[in-house]
Amino acid sequence: MENIRLQKYLAECGIASRRKCEELISNGKIKVNGKIATLGTKINPQKDKVEFNNKNVKLEKDEYIYILLNKPIGVVTTVSDQFNRETVIDLININKRIMPVGRLDMYTSGALILTNDGDFIYKVTHPKHEIKKTYTVTLKGIISSEEIQNLRNGVKIDNEYITKPAKAKILKIDNEKNISRVEITIHEGKNRQVRKMCESIGKKVIALHRSKIGPIEVKNLKIGEWRYLNKTEIKQILENN
Ligand code: URA
Repeated sequence: MENIRLQKYLAECGIASRRKCEELISNGKIKVNGKIATLGTKINPQKDKVEFNNKNVKLEKDEYIYILLNKPIGVVTTVSDQFNRETVIDLININKRIMPVGRLDMYTSGALILTNDGDFIYKVTHPKHEIKKTYTVTLKGIISSEEIQNLRNGVKIDNEYITKPAKAKILKIDNEKNISRVEITIHEGKNRQVRKMCESIGKKVIALHRSKIGPIEVKNLKIGEWRYLNKTEIKQILENN
């Protein structure tokens, strides 16, 4: 998570209003990593230890929220964009500081989870237990069964990396339009991995959509819509690696 102003963090944790929290900081009542904090201090909620009245200040577990968004194309997966483009956070109008869990390219649509639970982000995106993600890819040209098999076995991307075994199956071949639709499931999260895998077998990606994260499907949400995930779904995601 990125660094945030101490008074904002304290207010989000329910200590007091932001202004009152500024007073607490100015009056030397807040410690960060054992030292009295000053106004203007920024903290990383994942790393820094914040104390008020000698007690740790933390978000309560039940204040955590988990959102599933059906990301439209053209929107960037970031909290704030240096070029002022529309971000996934702009699409979710809530009063909590949330972060995307992993990322989708600007021109990829589909399932994206956002949360304020840093532990969850760490667990779900850690390469050791990368959760499975399923994509529907529309390709220019007709894909052969040999090319599908190559996607399953692993292909070379970035000039050196061989992708791990994946699931791949043909959903549709349209000879008239000269396009193929393929479903690919991967456990990894290399940058632009699916696009690069398809390029590696010589196929151009026309459209890319993430249909599932673990067992959670996005198909009941319209593009741009979002909903909260429930406890069972969160458990399923954490167990699905
Ligand atoms: N693979 C890609 O190429 N792009 C994405 O957005 C996600 C996976």
